[in-house]
Order: sequence, then C-alpha cells, then structure tokens
Amino acid sequence: MAKTIIRFGVIGCGLMGKEFASAAARWCHLTEVDFAPSIVAVCDANPAATAWFQEHVPSVEEACTDYKELLANPRVDAIYCAVPHNLHAQIYVDIIKAGKHLLGEKPFGIDQEANERIQQAIADNPNVIVRCSSEFPFFPGAQQLVAWVEAHKFGQIIEVEAGFWHSSDLDPSKPINWKRRIATNGEYGCMGDLGMHVLHLPMRFGWKPQTVRALLSNIVPNRPDGQGNRVPCETWDNAILACDVRTESQQFPMVLSMKRIAPGHANTWFIRITGTEFSAEFTTKNPKQVAYLPYTPGGVQAWHVADAPYKSAYSTITGGIFEFGFSDSILQMWAAFCDELVHHPSPTQPFYCVTPEEAGSSHMIFTAALASNRTGQTMAIDWRN
Ligand SMILES: NC(=O)c1ccc[n+]([C@@H]2O[C@H](COP(=O)([O-])OP(=O)(O)OC[C@H]3O[C@@H](n4cnc5c(N)ncnc54)[C@H](O)[C@@H]3O)[C@@H](O)[C@H]2O)c1
Repeated sequence: MAKTIIRFGVIGCGLMGKEFASAAARWCHLTEVDFAPSIVAVCDANPAATAWFQEHVPSVEEACTDYKELLANPRVDAIYCAVPHNLHAQIYVDIIKAGKHLLGEKPFGIDQEANERIQQAIADNPNVIVRCSSEFPFFPGAQQLVAWVEAHKFGQIIEVEAGFWHSSDLDPSKPINWKRRIATNGEYGCMGDLGMHVLHLPMRFGWKPQTVRALLSNIVPNRPDGQGNRVPCETWDNAILACDVRTESQQFPMVLSMKRIAPGHANTWFIRITGTEFSAEFTTKNPKQVAYLPYTPGGVQAWHVADAPYKSAYSTITGGIFEFGFSDSILQMWAAFCDELVHHPSPTQPFYCVTPEEAGSSHMIFTAALASNRTGQTMAIDWRN
C-alpha cells in the first residue's frame, strides 16, 4: 500500500525517544495503514543520546543540541518531544508556534500554569495537531473495556477503580534522578509521572470528578546522589485519589491510584468497573486476559476470565493467538497519532490519543489533589473554567 511519509523530529532522545525509534523501525508490523513516520532530525542536550539515533536510525539527517535548530528545519512536519517536565511548556509552545504537529509527553506541563501556556499556544495555532502520549488503553483487553463502556453494558455504575503501580522505588539505594526532584519533575510527583495514564480512559468516558480527596505519601524521603551523599527525594511516591464522579445520568465513586512504591508490581496499569448489570477488569499484570461478570437479577454472580486476542485498534501481522506487550501498545499509539496527522478530522479508526483537553483535565484533578492533601479537605473541581 502506498504510504504518506510523515517526517518527524525527536526532541529528547532518552528512554521514550528510543521507544519511538523502535516503533518506527517496525512499522511493517502494521498491515493496513497508508502512512508511516520517518525520523529525519533529532535533538538532545546530551550529544551521546543523539549519537544512538545516528547509529541506529538510518533516516536521521540532522542531529543537534539546540531544539530551535530542529524547529527551523523545513523538512520536519511533526515532533515527538520527550524531555523532563520543567521543559514541557517552553519547548511545546515553541514547537506549536513553529507550526509543527506535536505528540508531547505527559504531564503536558510541569504544573497547571505551564499547562495553560501550552493550551494558549494550541488555541492560537488551530492548524497544528497536538496530542499527548498514553499507550496502555491500546492493549486489546483495555480496548474490550472501551467497547463495553460505549455499548452501555454496565447498567448503573457502582464504582470505578483505576491505577498505575510500579515498585522500583522500593529500593532506598536507587539513586536520585530528575523524576524525583520537584524542580524537574514537579510538585505533582507520581501524579505527574503516572496520572495521565490512569486518567486517559476515565476522561475519554466523560467521568469527571466533582470532588477529590487525596492522600499523598513520601515513603523514601532521601536517596543517594551517586557521589556518596544522600539528598532529599522531594516528590510524592504514592497517591490515592477518592473522587466523586457525576455524569448526566450517573453518580459513582472513582478511586484513582498512582504508586511508585507498590511492592510486587513492575508496571501494572489497570481499570476495574463494577455495575449493576455488568462488571469488568483489565490489568497489564495479566496482559492477555480480561475478566467480566454479567449479571441478571437473581442470576449467578461468576467472574469469567477470557484470553483477549492480539487485536488492537490497528491490525498487525501478529496472529490473534499471540501475546500483546508494552512495545505493541507504543506502536499502536504511534499509529493513532500518525493516522490523525494524515486523516484529520476522520482517522481510520475511532480510538485516538489523549487530547490537550484531556491532559488539561488531569491538571485540574492533580492541582485539586495537592490542595486536598495540604488542607486535609475534600476539594471541589469547577469544570466551568
Ligand atoms: N508514555 C510513557 O509510558 C512514558 C514513560 C516514561 C517517561 N515518559 C515521559 O517522557 C518524558 C521523558 O522521559 P524519559 O523517561 O524519556 O526521560 P529520559 O531522562 O530518559 O530522557 C529525557 C531526555 O531529554 C534530554 N534533554 C534534557 N534537556 C533537554 C533540552 N533542553 N533539549 C533537548 N533534550 C533535552 C535529556 O538529555 C534526556 O536524553 C517525560 O515527560 C516523562 O514523563 C513517558
């Protein structure tokens, strides 16, 4: 199939920049897309990071340490920007003003004020397509839950629980890095790191909390700095947010949790929805399974656990009996973003990446959560603003 090539620049060539390079390198995995990314320019403050791209990505024509050089390159159509949170606002705004489409990383600004600057740039440049990264909903089991929510299978929703948990921070000898300092990661701490992943589906379903009560924990307050000292580890390790959701027809509690210290969990993203007629759960702990419980009054209450076939938003060469993993979800997310760039406003399938509005909603919730933890009060969120 003839493909429209989208010429990408990557700003921030660390962990996530390389994940994009890997996804772009196996684009042939996707069977029915008429578009493909080509990474032509890369930028990182650390030249060793761009050297990896020059070694592994043959399409790279330009490498630089100043992102403004990359933005001046007329051969670049779109940018993936994966840099520390304190740089999001400045660099995202400059990308948007340069007229380049953007897939930005969460939390989409280090705090609400930074997010508002990004939102303003988007409003001022309506022809630029901007989305935020979040890959887990592309797991087949999560896609199945999306279909069930859209089919209104749950009846009256009883409650929702969603979370993202890992545990590498349980080790107090793990050295400090930018993700554990307020100046670079932000006051949100684990919420800024993990929270957009947790909120992607609730926001997509329109489940906006009217109030939030937050409990935030700093479990390991200092860490080695690699030079023989222990320095403050300032950011919140774990967050539990109890939310009161009201939609036009429903009201239910929703518990959101983001944990860097959840013993036994490597990278567990989950969502569980219980309802009067149907309940369902998907967790990346059991990535190829989805659990569901249909109920009719007086009937048996039995959980069914079924293998979710390798079937996501975009079809691939992998057969339905095989397993889906993290890098597959990244590939699917990239397909969704490129699909929007080429087919906007009518992409070839309906599940799109996180929108700036959805990312903005996450800032409303995290900002209220910080205030709740500070005051010990339940905070109301005014969605009219
Ligand atoms: N979607 C996901 O699953 C996921 C996972 C991890 C991180 N992230 C997000 O991705 C972003 C980056 O995280 P990461 O884990 O890749 O971090 P990282 O530390 O591995 O990479 C960040 C890179 O940015 C570079 N950088 C710093 N300042 C720069 C500047 N002024 N100009 C250009 N490059 C600069 C650094 O040298 C580094 O190579 C963050 O927003 C983070 O929240 C997303």
